[in-house]
Amino acid sequence: MGDRWYQEAVVYCLDVDTYADSDGDGVGDFQGLIGRLDYLARLGVTCLWLNPIHPSPNKDDGYDATDFYNVDPRLGTLGDFAELLHQAQNRGIRVIIDLVVNHTSDQHPWFQSARSSPDSPYRDWYVWADHEPADRQQGMVFPGEQEETWTYDRTAKAWYYHRFYKFQPDLNIENPKVRAEIKKITSFWLQLGVSGFRMDAVPFIIEKTEPGNPNADKDFDFLTDLRQHVQWRRGDAALLAEANVEPDQLPVYFGDAAGSGNRIHMLFDFMLNGRLMLALARQDPEAIIDALRDTPKLPTGGQWATFLRNHDEIDLSRLTADQRNDVLAKFGPDENMQLYGRGIRRRLAPMLGNDRRHIELAYALQFSLRGTPVLRYGEEIGMGEDLSLDGRDAIRTPMQWSYKDNAGFSTAEPEKLVRPVIDKGEFGYQQVNVTAQRKDPRSLLGWFERMIRTLREAPEIGSGSTTHIDVPVPAGVLAHRADGRTGTMVFLHNLGTEDVEVDLSTLAPEADLPIDVLTDRNYEEVGKLDRLKLAGHGYRWIRLCRGRDL
Ligand code: GLC
Repeated sequence: MGDRWYQEAVVYCLDVDTYADSDGDGVGDFQGLIGRLDYLARLGVTCLWLNPIHPSPNKDDGYDATDFYNVDPRLGTLGDFAELLHQAQNRGIRVIIDLVVNHTSDQHPWFQSARSSPDSPYRDWYVWADHEPADRQQGMVFPGEQEETWTYDRTAKAWYYHRFYKFQPDLNIENPKVRAEIKKITSFWLQLGVSGFRMDAVPFIIEKTEPGNPNADKDFDFLTDLRQHVQWRRGDAALLAEANVEPDQLPVYFGDAAGSGNRIHMLFDFMLNGRLMLALARQDPEAIIDALRDTPKLPTGGQWATFLRNHDEIDLSRLTADQRNDVLAKFGPDENMQLYGRGIRRRLAPMLGNDRRHIELAYALQFSLRGTPVLRYGEEIGMGEDLSLDGRDAIRTPMQWSYKDNAGFSTAEPEKLVRPVIDKGEFGYQQVNVTAQRKDPRSLLGWFERMIRTLREAPEIGSGSTTHIDVPVPAGVLAHRADGRTGTMVFLHNLGTEDVEVDLSTLAPEADLPIDVLTDRNYEEVGKLDRLKLAGHGYRWIRLCRGRDL
């Protein structure tokens, strides 16, 4: 293993309340998750990212906290959480949690105090305007569900700012007390044993909001300061941030102009996500090649986090209108599948028509591209979505463990479940569940286990450098390579449906007994790399050579 754990990690994202319910109240909990750690260890994931775990009115699935120093009592106690950390650590699994400090819930005691009087010690913890701001109806993150970014509060007799829903007032990052408090929150959880944070909405945290100015400056120094603090409290802690901004703006999130990588360790690659979806929709790797070429160079220690699905909609807003239309036509043709005029609220398996070859191809591709792969719970068994639920809840249904009632998620009466389980059609738990797939070595779950283990044998994917292999290949085929201390891997992925043959003989001089390490089927030996057969939607991960120092 290399020096920095997060560069060779496999991150698994889950919501505790929809994962496993141990006490039969219909809500998943820490004890339930502890009971599933062996499953996760077998799958091969090395880091869990837990969606928000704090007390919350849950109007935005926990992204509206009322107490940053506690856990939602529905999930268990702080004691249960500490036990989870211990049990995960025993299995070599790290835990990171969501750090949602752009805003609080409007029910948070800080906001309740702040709105009660201009003299409240918490008044300046939020962002206020005495008069109606001219940009009140600009900058909404949830168009269609959110009408404004400044709302008049009658108790406060002032306007408050909220980048997200109106029940999520923004904290005032310019207030030194707020900065100190955010650091204290990170200290608390690091002290308990988390390995870092998935930082929510970072571009908005550092926004120096002023009424009437929709393009306020950002305070990147706060990120430097926070990184220093976090790293001092726990040397191997990592920050994984959500910063869905244009690629040319990303480098400053990793580090300052000196190029030292002194801010965020890892950023989700939203641009790659949209382009992966485009490439899959068009059966053409062009968009991925562009993404590999266009992504900015990272400072030492900086890392991308790749994903196909997360807990939100797939955001297509950075594609051109033509590109977006192609993706929507293929993967989200019904209006009911779309969200906020920019995205798709579906899981991957149904988008790919539940075509096993296509699903394998998509995930083999994601996991072979540079960066740290992040996998959303349920994707490893090919779960579907429930479009009868509101908004993003469609993709937040309970984990499907078995054939038992409620998919083995909970013993509660179905009407008590935090969200209904999917119990109809080809994605119903009767068809798609862990128990069935555990028994079947050819299942998607079995495939994920093998694929993740293969990835762990090829650390150059995470910590090396990835480039497109620019030689003539048949239409639909992406050839790329990963080079690192441990050697070189070469990858072929056929986004098209035709069987083809690929000539990579120009790489032969570098090869040292090249072999297939992960393929969609048994192919003839790699040989001189000049006649590599590749089936429609097929893939081959080939070890070209091992590092000389190993
Ligand atoms: C992030 C989260 C999303 C949440 C929002 C507000 O974008 O990913 O789920 O609704 O922040 O906190």
